[in-house]
Amino acid sequence: MDILEVKSLSKAFGGVAALKDVSFDVPEGQIRGFIGPNGAGKTTLFSLIAGAVRPTAGKVTLRDGNITGKKPSALVKMGVVRTHQIVRPFRALSVLENVQLAVHFGRHAVTSLATARERAMDALKLVGLDGKAKMLASALSLGEQKRLEVARALATAPSILMLDEICGGLAATETKNMLDLVCRIREGGTTVLYIEHDMKAVMSVCDTITVLNFGQKLAEGKPEEIQNNDSVIEAYLGKSTLRAHTSG
Ligand SMILES: Nc1ncnc2c1ncn2[C@@H]1O[C@H](COP(=O)(O)OP(=O)(O)O)[C@@H](O)[C@H]1O
Ligand SMILES: [Mg+2]
Repeated sequence: MDILEVKSLSKAFGGVAALKDVSFDVPEGQIRGFIGPNGAGKTTLFSLIAGAVRPTAGKVTLRDGNITGKKPSALVKMGVVRTHQIVRPFRALSVLENVQLAVHFGRHAVTSLATARERAMDALKLVGLDGKAKMLASALSLGEQKRLEVARALATAPSILMLDEICGGLAATETKNMLDLVCRIREGGTTVLYIEHDMKAVMSVCDTITVLNFGQKLAEGKPEEIQNNDSVIEAYLGKSTLRAHTSG
């Protein structure tokens, strides 16, 4: 069953058409990848689904409900959550406090501080930051801040989690840990929408990949289909680039 249906979604920023008539369905439990060159409209797509930006046209359906244009606060309560490409922790709060706050804004109402702390610790354990719970968020490395961003999103108990370039700027081992985390999140029952610049990373964890180019959907298919899709190879990656990123 599809958990998410995006139909003819479009967004214009003034004269710039960031997204044009994009449609796709995501089955529950899938890891769906989104790739495309800089400016292709990937982040805008997440902003539209998460309610941070209102679409110019089109419809977003969660299970059977129309969620188009709903506010982020309402969508989080419905289980639709995204991370930001540029991490945004509360720098003066501890790692634990950052995640605890997210629990309070999340899908399941919590009245007890102790319960919120417990759920926050669960999320920190999942991303491997439980040992740094008391540190200030500002003291974390970039890789740890990216994991904190994921923990904050997880703490809201999402049914759909949108991850925007969580491996950007990470070293190889950190990237591998992050990809393992993405798989664990899905195993926990969460559907994942995943934007990543690193082609090899996307290809290794995603069930299906949707390719955007100049705001439009260029292709969709299994990783190996995308890798061998002529329009994907020729339109924007260049044969050598795609093959170099996916082999070995
Ligand atoms: N808030 C905004 N105001 C104006 N233009 C924007 C805004 N957000 C994105 N854009 C433009 O929309 C296009 C798609 O951007 P974006 O969704 O960030 O692409 P991607 O994430 O694929 O790199 C780009 O041309 C970008 O400059
Ligand atoms: Mg982006």
